[in-house]
Amino acid sequence: MWTNYRKTFPARYIKSGYFDQYIQRVISEKKPKTILDIGGGPQGTETLKGSGGRVYLLDPFIPHKPRWIYKKVGWDAKEKFDAIVCRGSINYLTKGELLKIKGFLKIRGFFIANSFLNPPPETWTERQYQTISDRIGIERFRYNRKKIVIEHELIPDRGGIIKHSFFYYSLSDYKKIFPGLKLMNYKNNSIILYFEK
Ligand SMILES: C[S@@+](CC[C@H](N)C(=O)[O-])C[C@H]1O[C@@H](n2cnc3c(N)ncnc32)[C@H](O)[C@@H]1O
Repeated sequence: MWTNYRKTFPARYIKSGYFDQYIQRVISEKKPKTILDIGGGPQGTETLKGSGGRVYLLDPFIPHKPRWIYKKVGWDAKEKFDAIVCRGSINYLTKGELLKIKGFLKIRGFFIANSFLNPPPETWTERQYQTISDRIGIERFRYNRKKIVIEHELIPDRGGIIKHSFFYYSLSDYKKIFPGLKLMNYKNNSIILYFEK
């Protein structure tokens, strides 16, 4: 599923936006030498290209190393990093993986991620989507309160349905995992998480 992410997922998740500008601003100010891109996807997180730092990719579902990425690592990596970025990926991580993030940071290193504030309704919400190559489909999602996950489906006009789920974490979950976390709300339900070690 993830190797085809850029072809199959709605363009709204892929196109550069407010969070990308935020990442660029922080990186140009702090100039990290090493950056860990967690859940960077098949091409690595585009925003980190040309950031000046060495970018490492941690994404177990991507078998290859994009050419511009310095090194691919796993959750058992021994390296420590000046910066860690999760763009569109924090909600796929288990609590155990979230807890490992602090350990990957050098002292005064920082972590940036985007997420959402409130889960969607428990009944299915549907909307039309468009991919970056202008294919259309119906996107459906609902909150499964028992499992504390969001169930997500993409039904393209042609081709197979993509069904998957991701975790819901509340603000208090995030604050417990990252003490001293700074949170910024944008676009109603979107949040930026910023943590410095
Ligand atoms: C929505 S994509 C985001 C890709 C990229 N960061 C971007 O913004 O274009 C989510 C990514 O999270 C990755 N992912 C899912 N579970 C993960 C895990 N447990 N650890 C690391 N990455 C994971 C997937 O393989 C996928 O590439």
